[in-house]
Amino acid sequence: MARIMSGVQPTGNLHIGNYLGALVNWVRLQEQYEAYFSIVDLHALTQRPEPEALRRAVREVAIGVLASGVDPERATVFVQSSVPQHTELAWVLTCLTPLGDLNRMTQFKDQSQQQPENVNTGLFTYPVLQTADIILYRADRVPVGEDQEQHLELARETVRRFNHIYGDTFPEPQVVKSAAPRVMGLDGESKMSKSRNNEIGLFETEAETMQKLRGAKTDPARLRRTDKGTPEVCNIFSYHGFFSTESQRAEVAAGCRSAQLGCVDCKKMLCQNLEQVKGPIRERASELRSRPGDLDSILERGAQKARIEAEKTMELVRERVGIWSGS
Ligand code: TRP
Repeated sequence: MARIMSGVQPTGNLHIGNYLGALVNWVRLQEQYEAYFSIVDLHALTQRPEPEALRRAVREVAIGVLASGVDPERATVFVQSSVPQHTELAWVLTCLTPLGDLNRMTQFKDQSQQQPENVNTGLFTYPVLQTADIILYRADRVPVGEDQEQHLELARETVRRFNHIYGDTFPEPQVVKSAAPRVMGLDGESKMSKSRNNEIGLFETEAETMQKLRGAKTDPARLRRTDKGTPEVCNIFSYHGFFSTESQRAEVAAGCRSAQLGCVDCKKMLCQNLEQVKGPIRERASELRSRPGDLDSILERGAQKARIEAEKTMELVRERVGIWSGS
């Protein structure tokens, strides 16, 4: 069975962008691949979170991953920092990575602009740690969104360089493109993200979501209830694309074009359909939250399995690059 590896950063609470962009795929891919899924807390340190907030986010993201249907009996689910080999390999790879390659990373530029007061070196070498995450498990495939493709290309380049210098060691990881297109935020202006405060939380109740949807932008040409709209330009309609059936979408589109259906009713329909997905997830999440010991042992079992694989890889790497293991 081929291997996949993917990671999610524990920053803020999970939202439906994370769910559609990553988690749904993980649930599907765990059937076809030997999967390693990591909550990458060391990557989150580049944003210097409050210590307690970081630990809470790790727990909540782990809960979200499991509540969405990732099965720890099938996939190896673990916290990155529980496997110290990630940072060890990252250092080895740092010494193989030309400065110029990292300088081209657009995510570094974007993230530096988002936190100009803290442009740290970790932000710069972030993709090297990401490469270590992947190749530590000799993964063949990596499911990521399109914003990560440049990092994946760098990972492939690093693998080629390592193999060229030290002999064939790692497979070149291929990208598994996410089936979901990008999910826009409630502002309809940028990608859904916690830092832009435009998200629909995965754990929100139906009432909380409806509250947010009320304020969300629709077709700007529909100023009054009686104005006819264009579903194609409406952000809310784009969500119907993810959560409503084909016949519901047809009904909503026709109702919008003819002004038979108002924006509020359209949002209510969406909210109900969202609840069909979020409701069961929220329930499983609160179940998991009520048994923190179980969560810890799931993550510890995942970490044990990951550490075994990681150590196998590192033994080979240490030997190939000349790291001291005694005379
Ligand atoms: N950089 C990824 C993101 O922000 C998260 C990530 C870290 C990752 N390590 C990874 C994704 C390894 C895939 C594989 O989405």
